Amino acid sequence: MIAYLASEKFLPELLEELKDVKSVHGNLVLTDGPLQNSVWAQNIWLDAQIIPFESISQASKALKSLGKLWACYTFENHRRAQLIQDQLPKLRPRVLDFLSELPENNLGAWTLLDKNTLLASPTTNSRFPLGDVKFNEDKKTPPSRAYLKLWELFTVYGIRPEPGQRVVDFGSCPGGWTWVLQRMGCEVISIDRAPLEPSIADLPGVKFMKTNAFNVKPEDLGRIDWFYSDIICYPEKLLELVQTWQASGLCSNFVCTIKFQGETDFKTLKKFLQMEHTRIQHLHHNKHEVTVWIKPPSS
Ligand SMILES: C[S@@+](CC[C@H](N)C(=O)[O-])C[C@H]1O[C@@H](n2cnc3c(N)ncnc32)[C@H](O)[C@@H]1O
Repeated sequence: MIAYLASEKFLPELLEELKDVKSVHGNLVLTDGPLQNSVWAQNIWLDAQIIPFESISQASKALKSLGKLWACYTFENHRRAQLIQDQLPKLRPRVLDFLSELPENNLGAWTLLDKNTLLASPTTNSRFPLGDVKFNEDKKTPPSRAYLKLWELFTVYGIRPEPGQRVVDFGSCPGGWTWVLQRMGCEVISIDRAPLEPSIADLPGVKFMKTNAFNVKPEDLGRIDWFYSDIICYPEKLLELVQTWQASGLCSNFVCTIKFQGETDFKTLKKFLQMEHTRIQHLHHNKHEVTVWIKPPSS
């Protein structure tokens, strides 16, 4: 069986996208059938097994026989689960530096379905305990915490620009993304209706344009290697903007945040998912928003 763990608050979104749901346990959704693409799962348990047990030591022995390192998810029976976890080898989650090597993929995940039943998966889709990615943050230089979304995408998913590439950053104020892109060695055209932090606007390789992103025509900028957008706007408007740039043929790599106000816009999300070479993921550092990236293999 395969189990999908929703990020905090996004269980309804996960249930909307998953098929063949067998049962729901807190934020964990158990399914029958093959692995499904999921936008909203923060951790996928690839080989989930149900194991009945009587005592704490029996439960920990069963887990040890299946794998070495275990992350524990609880939705009830917290104390009993802690007693079991205490008998397992101690998990020391890595705190990542930007662009550092990833930890080994050797983590299992488990939960208590009830007092006497474990659900345990010796393999998951993440190198981080329950998909929880933590960075050694830079709390001084970047002017907003939005930079963590790009840090996660670049470090964990390897979706990043090359030094010297020409990129546009739409909705860039106060400048977290522009700061990351400049530090990658890119030439950054940074665009927002609001002013950029002066310390970011003055960085070499950054050109700031104070204007409405939707009035900028692709021909105004010419060929660019990457299109970045963290604009706050309706998903439908972002989709139009991306399609305009795709149609121009002047850019083929895209990274955008799709932000939801109120209800999640599943209809537009589906339209994004239907585009070629697209992946959409609710990153650990996303709020009520998801990150979409489009990267054709040859680009
Ligand atoms: C979440 S903030 C971006 C944070 C930024 N990525 C960072 O790392 O600091 C969203 C930005 O979108 C900008 N924005 C909203 N509508 C816009 C538009 N039509 N044109 C340009 N910028 C827009 C807002 O001014 C705001 O600065």
